[in-house]
Amino acid sequence: MTPKTFKIKSFGCQMNVYDGERIAELLAEQGMTASADDADLVVLNTCHIREKAAEKAYSDVGRLRRDDGSKPLIALAGCVAQAEGKEAKARSAMIDMVVGPQAYHRLPEMIAEAARGGRPVDTDLPALSKFDSLPKRRRANPSSFLTVQEGCDKFCTYCVVPYTRGAEISRPWADVVAEAQALVDGGALEIVLLGQNVNAWAHDGRGLQELIREIARIDGLERIRYTTSHPADMSDALIAAHGEVEKLMPYLHLPVQSGSDRVLKAMNRSHTTDTYLRTIEKVRAARPDIAISGDFIVGFPGETEEEFEATLQIVDAVRYASAYSFKYSARPGTPAAQMEGQIPIEVMDERLQRLQARITDNQLAFNRSTVGLGTRVLIERPGRRAGQMIGRSPWLQSVHVHTDAKPGDILDVTLVEAGPNSMAGAVRQREAA
Ligand code: SAH
Ligand code: SF4
Ligand code: F3S
Repeated sequence: MTPKTFKIKSFGCQMNVYDGERIAELLAEQGMTASADDADLVVLNTCHIREKAAEKAYSDVGRLRRDDGSKPLIALAGCVAQAEGKEAKARSAMIDMVVGPQAYHRLPEMIAEAARGGRPVDTDLPALSKFDSLPKRRRANPSSFLTVQEGCDKFCTYCVVPYTRGAEISRPWADVVAEAQALVDGGALEIVLLGQNVNAWAHDGRGLQELIREIARIDGLERIRYTTSHPADMSDALIAAHGEVEKLMPYLHLPVQSGSDRVLKAMNRSHTTDTYLRTIEKVRAARPDIAISGDFIVGFPGETEEEFEATLQIVDAVRYASAYSFKYSARPGTPAAQMEGQIPIEVMDERLQRLQARITDNQLAFNRSTVGLGTRVLIERPGRRAGQMIGRSPWLQSVHVHTDAKPGDILDVTLVEAGPNSMAGAVRQREAA
């Protein structure tokens, strides 16, 4: 049966969210309609980064069986699809299609084949061809994602991304600028440039800072962000842009992973704590109020108590405005999975708790330092309480505001109260959207 309705569920990073939006546009162009429940076709856009995320993909597939025993057409997409390929079909007979993150532009043909009873698999990693065969962008969110760079050549020893997303490639300048313009025409006020190593973006001798400066020229675009950056690719020219491009928001996600140089070396991160801290210093010299965010892994193989404490110390040294922390998860095919000294789960649990408490202290300190500031908040969605909306400050804080403003409005707000994960703001004056 040819499906008429579809539902897409995206997990993992923002690049998967972007891919999910593009898949939705592609299926809509085929005449299918999005449906909240009981769709004819379900696309599970999965994440392979940690074991839990990957296992979730299969339990989600199982849950798609309907009460009457029937099931929708099921496409396994994203990084689990890439990592497992046709193995996925063997693991679950319910899966009709397996499509990797660089091949989803082929979904229309694959759906036709699956509707005829086939079980197609496409996990090719062709350089960028998907972008050429996707429909033009039309409708955009107030804050919209735009993938400019894909893949990773860094091969951190714990990480699956180089295998699931392929080699580092940059989309061409003109394509990115055209898509940014289309997003602004469709209503975007903020564009978040995405890549697994977004600051490695380069095309025709130009780097990310030049792309940011070009996109900043688009009338009607208010804000630019980019994520995720690798410390090794944080060039002086990109840092300088933080002090010069008004639309570039004062926020930088720059994962360090550990505060121990021995662990960093074993992780094959190409930075040391010292080079990382010097980069942060330069960024702060260019943009003193910048909010720094990061990622951490606790319990990397061989991590001692002392090495873990060095991670606590770097959290305080950087004064992170926000940070994400994870228990190390051994991933198939990665070098770290074979290393000696795998850390027991109880030790990881205990370290994660201590790290998260330290991060919370720093988040709260950052948020408190902004109380009393007048700033602008881009409204994104309704809050939990009546009359409350949630938006983002330039520093990417979630700000709760009592207002009748709509998503896409930008409000002048005074930050009045700080929590570890959000702020309360009071409207100063309403601006036209
Ligand atoms: N390209 C980005 C992030 C990629 S994945 C970067 O290099 O920073 C997002 C985060 O997941 C990583 O920063 C890391 O902290 C975490 N992560 C990746 N692999 C992991 C693993 N095997 N176990 C636990 N956390 C992991
Ligand atoms: Fe993974 Fe390292 Fe590449 Fe980030 S830089 S995606 S952590 S291999
Ligand atoms: Fe997950 Fe793939 Fe992103 S593994 S974090 S969805 S690149």
